[in-house]
Amino acid sequence: MAELFEPIRIGRLALANRLVRSATWEGLADPGGGVTPPLAAKMRELAEGGVGLIVTGHAFISPEGRAGPGQLGVAADEALPALAGMVAEVHGAGGRIVLQLAHAGAHADVKLSGREALGPSPLEGRWGGVCREMRAHDLAAVTAAFAAAAQRAQAAGFDGVQVHAAHGYLLSQFLSPAVNRRTDGYGGDPAGRARLLLEVVAAVRGAAGADFPLLVKLNSEDLAPGGFSVEAMLEMAGMLAAAGVDAVELSGGRVVNPPEAQAARLARPAAEPPEPYYRAAARRFKLAVGLPLILVGGIREAETAEALVDEGAADLLAMSRPLIREPGLPRRWRSGDRRPAACLSCNRCYVPIRAGLGPSCPVRETSRRAGL
Ligand SMILES: Cc1cc2nc3c(=O)[nH]c(=O)nc-3n(C[C@H](O)[C@H](O)[C@H](O)COP(=O)(O)O)c2cc1C
Repeated sequence: MAELFEPIRIGRLALANRLVRSATWEGLADPGGGVTPPLAAKMRELAEGGVGLIVTGHAFISPEGRAGPGQLGVAADEALPALAGMVAEVHGAGGRIVLQLAHAGAHADVKLSGREALGPSPLEGRWGGVCREMRAHDLAAVTAAFAAAAQRAQAAGFDGVQVHAAHGYLLSQFLSPAVNRRTDGYGGDPAGRARLLLEVVAAVRGAAGADFPLLVKLNSEDLAPGGFSVEAMLEMAGMLAAAGVDAVELSGGRVVNPPEAQAARLARPAAEPPEPYYRAAARRFKLAVGLPLILVGGIREAETAEALVDEGAADLLAMSRPLIREPGLPRRWRSGDRRPAACLSCNRCYVPIRAGLGPSCPVRETSRRAGL
């Protein structure tokens, strides 16, 4: 039986255990995307809760790639001191933290950014309006912005970076045949659709060095008609392995999908006991691709997490919503209290985040007030 709480390595990154806090937008950054004391305190709370690795919420790497309010940013050097302070909080609590590098592409919040949204092809954004198809100089600028952001992450002391290529944001838009209709070298077959991601990976490696841990979050599939498929994912994961990526985190869905087909899948009220969302795709990944795999989505039980390792479906197990409800869940499981995560996957955690109050679980607060 696999042991969740044994040390594990991702490249040069040594972790105390197999549990990962999956990237989670906290909505706590200041209007410029800077780290605030409440955001740093949240990261410290997670480290104290015993998770082996924290992935920050998605951080925009260039101003036009902003996804929404309160989002963390790493687009300018001014962000550095506060980012370094947040890293120091986590390291002080014995934790490890990587910065998620992101560009929202067509789904950027243009009202907030004041800039035109960019994408692989003209595409209706989630906030309205159609993005502009990226030209050669836009592609070069975005690639350079990812590299500069990785360098800033390194300078701030992060333990690595994760390139966000999932959930229907810019890099995921390029990967997806449902929305990438380009006829140049950045569209068409899987190699063309993966080209921008591979150029970003190479640029990050070039900027931060071969030893700096580099992770990629990838969809197992888009869960959308004509979208990115498990077969395409396997092909692209092989390309990422050849490009020297240290690990892949496997997710799925898109921000514009119906609620039950988004990454943070909305559970039906009478849901069966939770089942990890991409288990079958993860098994195929592990058979076909020689890279450490972090699996995320619907993992709620220690026994399931162990079984995923035992059956060869994952090396590390990531959670988002369970750690909003209970940041100390890893410590609890480690202490021998292995009751499942209490998270209901009801997504009411978005309510306080959207209100600028940071992540918390309204269901838990209601139970507390009722003395339950
Ligand atoms: C409030 C919230 C914010 C999220 N923000 C991000 C993000 O910034 N980057 C990302 O890759 N995924 C983000 N996700 C998706 C999670 O990382 C994760 O893939 C998804 O919630 C499934 O895991 P879970 O079932 O353990 O919650 C977010 C999810 C939630 C609920």
